[in-house]
Amino acid sequence: MIFTVAIDGPAASGKGTIAKALARELGFAHLDTGLLYRAVAAKSLEGQDPVEAAQGLDPGGLDGARLRTAAVAQEASRVAAIPAVRVALLDVQKAFARREGGAVMDGRDIGTVICPEAEAKLFVTASAEARAGRRYRELVAAGQEVTLEGTLAEVRARDARDAGRDVAPLRPAGDAVVIDTSGLGIEEAVSAALAVVRERLGR
Ligand code: CDP
Ligand code: CDP
Repeated sequence: MIFTVAIDGPAASGKGTIAKALARELGFAHLDTGLLYRAVAAKSLEGQDPVEAAQGLDPGGLDGARLRTAAVAQEASRVAAIPAVRVALLDVQKAFARREGGAVMDGRDIGTVICPEAEAKLFVTASAEARAGRRYRELVAAGQEVTLEGTLAEVRARDARDAGRDVAPLRPAGDAVVIDTSGLGIEEAVSAALAVVRERLGR
């Protein structure tokens, strides 16, 4: 069976949590496409050319923990605005979306660019304050030295870059179902997403 669940949205909206839960529940494969951009960003911070880093990227076995820092996140949104970086990461994502057995992918442009034909599209969002609070708590728990104000400023800067870029800007696909998780717990957000996907699976 070919069935793609496309989940897009801004930083710390809860799309990764929803994507993982849906993949587990449905038995689909999951790809966090943000990790691809973060991996390119980490190489760029080490001095490598981001386009070459994207062309040589091995998407298997990316070290999520090492890539989830504030510095890598900011650099990711910079390299993600380079058209040749996005082109280099296109084929691997398109192939993943249409793999046999079903796929859940989360990112910024899954429903608009990577897989416009996705059978289910979700746009997961939340207020900048709610998202910054979540991301702040995660970074503190991981032992990183950050402030809530700094995290909010970084979330806003990244939102502006991601939504304002010329190539594959962050925006909901016309046929995406929007889920605002500002006032939702994880279980409620996952149930809302699962209900949409199950309805599409039943069609
Ligand atoms: O993938 P994305 O950056 O959109 O967000 P995430 O990694 O799924 O979620 C960011 C943080 O918010 C995690 O620590 C989640 O546990 C938390 N979260 C939450 O508190 N309430 C939700 N409804 C969803 C996520
Ligand atoms: O988890 P969080 O939402 O904070 O970030 P992420 O999903 O790991 O993405 C990091 C950065 O990569 C984003 O700010 C985007 O600039 C970029 N990205 C993108 O352009 N397209 C995607 N499909 C996924 C991520």
